Amino acid sequence: MKILIAYFTMGGRTKKTAEAIASVLTNYEVSYFPVELTGKFIKKLKILDKFEKKDFSSLETELNTLDAASYDLIIFGMPTYGNKPPQIFDEIVARMGNLSGKRAIVFNTARFTGGKTRDYMKAKVEEAGAQVIDKSKFRKVLWIGVKNAIKFGKRINERQE
Ligand SMILES: Cc1cc2nc3c(=O)[nH]c(=O)nc-3n(C[C@H](O)[C@H](O)[C@H](O)COP(=O)(O)O)c2cc1C
Repeated sequence: MKILIAYFTMGGRTKKTAEAIASVLTNYEVSYFPVELTGKFIKKLKILDKFEKKDFSSLETELNTLDAASYDLIIFGMPTYGNKPPQIFDEIVARMGNLSGKRAIVFNTARFTGGKTRDYMKAKVEEAGAQVIDKSKFRKVLWIGVKNAIKFGKRINERQE
């Protein structure tokens, strides 16, 4: 069984959460589609700004490879920006080939809120024709640990269907 985890991270919290979930997916072979902004904060903000304006030209090559065909389950992980996932989420969903009919799981990280973003993600993935079988939000104001992510990962790993 194969899982693809597609995530975006600017500060590392979503990556940390995705990797904690993956660490207990012993029944699966896990692959990632990571979109990780690195470098100085100002540089990251500039790239984020482009993405928010729907300019994904720097990511075109990677986005063209997005295909759900060989996976049994797709997990989408995003941070929360102004009560929504960043624009890259919509782009990843739109650009992912063969998502229709697949099983999917969505999660988001947040500091204060997060419920709306998680529900937005679920609706968007369902619009693309996938079946969202689980969802979670990981909300911590300061330090984000891995305890809840591991719990969530175990729940995914032990699903029967
Ligand atoms: C521009 C911006 C907007 C944010 N908006 C929200 C928000 O509306 N609600 C919230 O709970 N957290 C908000 N946050 C906090 C992030 O969602 C949170 O820190 C997230 O875990 C960051 O993930 P990352 O480290 O993977 O980038 C915001 C952070 C940034 C940088």
